[in-house]
Amino acid sequence: MEIEKKLKEFLPDMRFKHSVRVKNIAVKLAKINGCSEEKAAIASYLHDVARDIPLKSMLDLLEEDGFFLQDHGIPDNNPLLLHAHAGKVVARKQFGVHDKEVLRSIELHTTGGESMSLLDKVIFVADYIEPGRTFSGVKETRDLAFKSLDRAVLYIFKTLIKNLLNRELFICKTTLLGYNELVQNCSGYNQIEAVP
Ligand SMILES: [Fe+2]
Ligand SMILES: [Fe+2]
Repeated sequence: MEIEKKLKEFLPDMRFKHSVRVKNIAVKLAKINGCSEEKAAIASYLHDVARDIPLKSMLDLLEEDGFFLQDHGIPDNNPLLLHAHAGKVVARKQFGVHDKEVLRSIELHTTGGESMSLLDKVIFVADYIEPGRTFSGVKETRDLAFKSLDRAVLYIFKTLIKNLLNRELFICKTTLLGYNELVQNCSGYNQIEAVP
């Protein structure tokens, strides 16, 4: 695939290998869930295309593109959050990707969000469960991913939020909104029990 060749030259080896592993899982999840395998492949190849860009360059890239952090409630000192937004710009400008669904799934791959499409969920989950991941909870997420994509997304939201809370770190509002939306749609949710 042309994109894989270009990406190999663009990314450090470790990041390139991660992207290929994410792509392999994303295509499988796309097939199972009736999502475009082609879009899943492009989005997963490119999801971390800006992960290794220095923070200052990422900020410049976003500003040039008219993306203002304050409008999105994103701090300007958090490359982990910014790389997803910068990745969308790099995918468009340097890889010629203009498909809005693909670009949005790149943008949401770290935080998730509300009204996630099938493709958004496939990329979000594939990035989390690719075989190189070893953190706690990954096995449970892998098992869930091939049974229910929504359940896997919810599990990732819960893990992310708990982890960030425990470490007293910033939680992006799109993650909280995505969690609230999904928890009401997944079976087993009981609003009364959820109130202490
Ligand atoms: Fe990423
Ligand atoms: Fe990634």
